[in-house]
Amino acid sequence: MDLFEKVMERAKTADLGKYQAGADGYFMFPKLEGEIGPEMNFRTPFGVKPILNWSLNNYLGLANDPEVRKADAEGAAKYGLAAPMGARMMSGQTVMHEELEAMLAKYAKKQAAFVVNFGYQAMISIIDCIVDRKDVIVYDYEAHACIMDGIFLHKSKCGGEKMSYVYPHNDMEKLEKQLKLATKKVAETGGSILVITEGVFGMAGDLGNLKGITDLKDKYNFRLLIDDAHGFGTMGPNGGGTGEHFGVQDKVDLYFATFAKAGAGIGGFIASEKPIIDYLRMNMRSQIYAKSLPMPMVVGLKKRLELMTTNPKYRENLWKIVHAIQEGFKKDGFDIGKTQSPVTPVYMHGDPNASDVECTAEATNLLLDLRENYGIFCSIVVYPVVPKGTVMFRVIPTAAHTLEHVERTINAFKECKKKLDEGRYKAKVVDPWSMLKSGKVEF
Ligand SMILES: Cc1ncc(COP(=O)(O)O)c(C=O)c1O
Repeated sequence: MDLFEKVMERAKTADLGKYQAGADGYFMFPKLEGEIGPEMNFRTPFGVKPILNWSLNNYLGLANDPEVRKADAEGAAKYGLAAPMGARMMSGQTVMHEELEAMLAKYAKKQAAFVVNFGYQAMISIIDCIVDRKDVIVYDYEAHACIMDGIFLHKSKCGGEKMSYVYPHNDMEKLEKQLKLATKKVAETGGSILVITEGVFGMAGDLGNLKGITDLKDKYNFRLLIDDAHGFGTMGPNGGGTGEHFGVQDKVDLYFATFAKAGAGIGGFIASEKPIIDYLRMNMRSQIYAKSLPMPMVVGLKKRLELMTTNPKYRENLWKIVHAIQEGFKKDGFDIGKTQSPVTPVYMHGDPNASDVECTAEATNLLLDLRENYGIFCSIVVYPVVPKGTVMFRVIPTAAHTLEHVERTINAFKECKKKLDEGRYKAKVVDPWSMLKSGKVEF
């Protein structure tokens, strides 16, 4: 069979592929336009609508901050988008990159930091670099895809030998069990142990149990790598991240975060002891063989970091909105799970006995109603990521939202929940287009 034909067969049955016709351009790959912030425009083939946006990880509202925009523009005007050309190691190193790294190391309370061009690739590379075939990785079951890809790469080097152990999400007893097994294993191989968790779990907003994990360091010999993509800039008294929040940052051996969330940019960094950072700089394949982060981003990131570290108003505004929306949802009887961070999941329950296609139809109809009739834009997560019949809304508050936005949103959620409970979103078809075309989105 021709490879492309085979791929197209697979596409028809792939989890998201089977919804492509009805969802592409609306539920998936939606187009948001206008200035980045809570009030944007949502473009579909049937027009452009203003929406109240709760789907951006622009936690501190920096994306559109006037000082940030000015720094970005000046960086672009002075250096252009191409500079520096080449990988850091070859021809892409600059004083600006080094200055940014010094600022990041200070903020993360580590000896040194290394700036990377993309968070996802960097995480894969960090794992690839830091462990070899004799070492064992112990990781949380809900680890982000980039951590999983790093673990897959490690697996590929271990010749079929089991060298990675997973523990159920935040289950410290099971983690200890796995550490016991891992300790035995590395005694045989002569290797070492790396534990990996997220600081803030980006889907449900709960925190990695960093206190529990670091306490286990008294009993077991391991190093800890944290992916704090959602905690950097948002958690801890100074925004220094989830390690700072728990008061255990000194026990986090490798602190990783991306600039794609609170940093309102692109790229990321890893911070640790200086010799380890030097080793990573020299050996991370995704950085040695790929272009350096462009100058306008580096200049812009220095400004963002300066604002994050010197002006608490960004975090204060963020947490004012986080508390208002989370307390508001709870007061109105909504289940927001175990979040302890700005990430705000809202769980609703449709028909658990429906087929997966029917469950998705019910969930997407609800989302359609929320977007078209209430002008509220957020993302949803459906089966199989959450149990059948459950719809998880992912609401992301930012410093740029207002209390009026919060009130409007909770009221809209209340009305939609009522309709869900009345079974008004049940439908066989997952196709928003016919309703949008008719101009009538009614449930
Ligand atoms: C936990 C976590 N790690 C890593 C990444 C990847 O970061 P980037 O967007 O910088 O590649 C993300 C982004 O979604 C994330 O949520």
